[in-house]
Amino acid sequence: MRGIVLAGGLGTRLDPITRIINKHLLPVYDKPMIYYPIQTLVNAGIEDIMIVTGGRNAGDFLRLLGNGREFGLKHLDYTYQEGEGGIAEALDLARHFARGGHLCVILGDNIIERDVRKSVDAFRQGGAGAKILVKRVPDPGRYGVPHIEHGRIVRIDEKPSEPASNFAVTGIYMYDSTVFDRIARLERSSRGELEITDVNNSYIDDGLMEWEELNGWWIDAGTVDGLLRASTFVARTGANMASAPRS
Ligand code: G1P
Repeated sequence: MRGIVLAGGLGTRLDPITRIINKHLLPVYDKPMIYYPIQTLVNAGIEDIMIVTGGRNAGDFLRLLGNGREFGLKHLDYTYQEGEGGIAEALDLARHFARGGHLCVILGDNIIERDVRKSVDAFRQGGAGAKILVKRVPDPGRYGVPHIEHGRIVRIDEKPSEPASNFAVTGIYMYDSTVFDRIARLERSSRGELEITDVNNSYIDDGLMEWEELNGWWIDAGTVDGLLRASTFVARTGANMASAPRS
C-alpha cells in the first residue's frame, strides 16, 4: 500500500500568512505542518510516500524533507500540481505512482492525535472499495458531512448549510485502484474543482464505501483557528509524532 500527502493549494483561508509560505510548511508547535501527515502514514506502516505540492515555492519541500530520512524512510517521491484544480485533481497526479495498488491519501493540513494503523491494516487486507474516517465535530458545515442511515453512509455533502449529521469526513482516505477511473469521470464543481467528496460519493453509489470513527483528536489546520488549535493541542497532549525523532 502506498501513501500520498496532498500539500498543494494556495491556503487562501490563511492569507496573508500564506502569501509567501506554503501552508503546509507553517509551524504547528515545534514542527512544520507537513511533518504530521507524513508521520501518520509512516505510523500506519506505509513507506512508499509521494508528496503532491504546487505553487511558487515547491522546491522548499525538497529542501525540507529530502528523502525522508528523519522519518526513517529511504526515499520520498514528489510531484507538482499546476493550478488550483482541487483535491481530486491533485490526487490524479499520483496515478503512475500508485502502480495499480491500494492507496492511503492524507491531506497535508490534517493532524491527528493517535494513529490509524488498525484501520489501514484492515483496509489493506480487505478487497475492493474505499474507506473514510469520520469525526464528531461541533461545526460539521465546514467539512464534508456524511449522511448515515442504518450504519451505512448513503451520501456525503460538501460544506452543507444544513448538515445531515454531526460528523466531518476527515482528510484521511483509503482507495482501491479504481479511484483514478472515478476521478476521470468527475465533472468540475461550481468552484471549478474536482472534489474529493464526489470521488467518495462514487464509491458510495457503488456500495463500496466503508467508514470508521477516528480515535483521538483531529484538526484541519487550514484555517487561522485550526492552526492555533493544532499548535495548542500538540503542545498540550502531543500528536502522532511520538515515534518521530525530536530535533
Ligand atoms: C476538504 C474536503 C472536506 C473534508 C476536509 C477535511 O475540505 O473537501 O470534505 O471534510 O478537507 O479536512 P477543505 O479543508 O479543503 O475545505
